[in-house]
Amino acid sequence: MPADTNWSGDVFGGWIVSQMDLAGAIHAERFSQGRCATISINQMTFLVPVKVGDVISCYTRILKVGNTSIQMQIEVWDSHDSSRIPKRVTAGVFTFVAVDVKGEKRQITEEVRQKYLAYEGS
Ligand SMILES: CC(C)(COP(=O)(O)OP(=O)(O)OC[C@H]1O[C@@H](n2cnc3c(N)ncnc32)[C@H](O)[C@@H]1OP(=O)(O)O)[C@@H](O)C(=O)NCCC(=O)NCCS
Repeated sequence: MPADTNWSGDVFGGWIVSQMDLAGAIHAERFSQGRCATISINQMTFLVPVKVGDVISCYTRILKVGNTSIQMQIEVWDSHDSSRIPKRVTAGVFTFVAVDVKGEKRQITEEVRQKYLAYEGS
């Protein structure tokens, strides 16, 4: 939307990052079966600008699961016009930490880990 653009008419990078953060947090929370907090954002690349009216989709993929953390590759694709080939506009690696209701880190249980491994192997 126009309110999300900078003075050049491109969508703010920060707005895109917030959508990626939301998408990643949804995946991390479903995976870890509880609340998660973003601890780091790395390797962010903005490949092409996003314009007003573009329709973007966020795709998340778990790269690594630690004791309390989940590292995730998040890509954003522009698929505004079905006659056009979708293009990758942004990618980054986000890390989320599983936290409890007090916001303190919590272990990702063996049961959750096994579920993930079974999913990855299928
Ligand atoms: C999330 C939080 C509870 C973690 O507590 P912490 O004591 O700092 O945690 P640790 O240093 O032990 O790290 C926890 C995990 O994150 C990983 N981690 C820490 N810093 C990291 C970094 N910069 N990049 C990637 N992973 C990182 C650690 O390797 C560890 O992983 P593991 O348990 O799977 O081995 C705490 O850092 C916090 O509350 N941060 C603020 C989160 C937040 O508000 N996010 C929203 C952005 S405004």
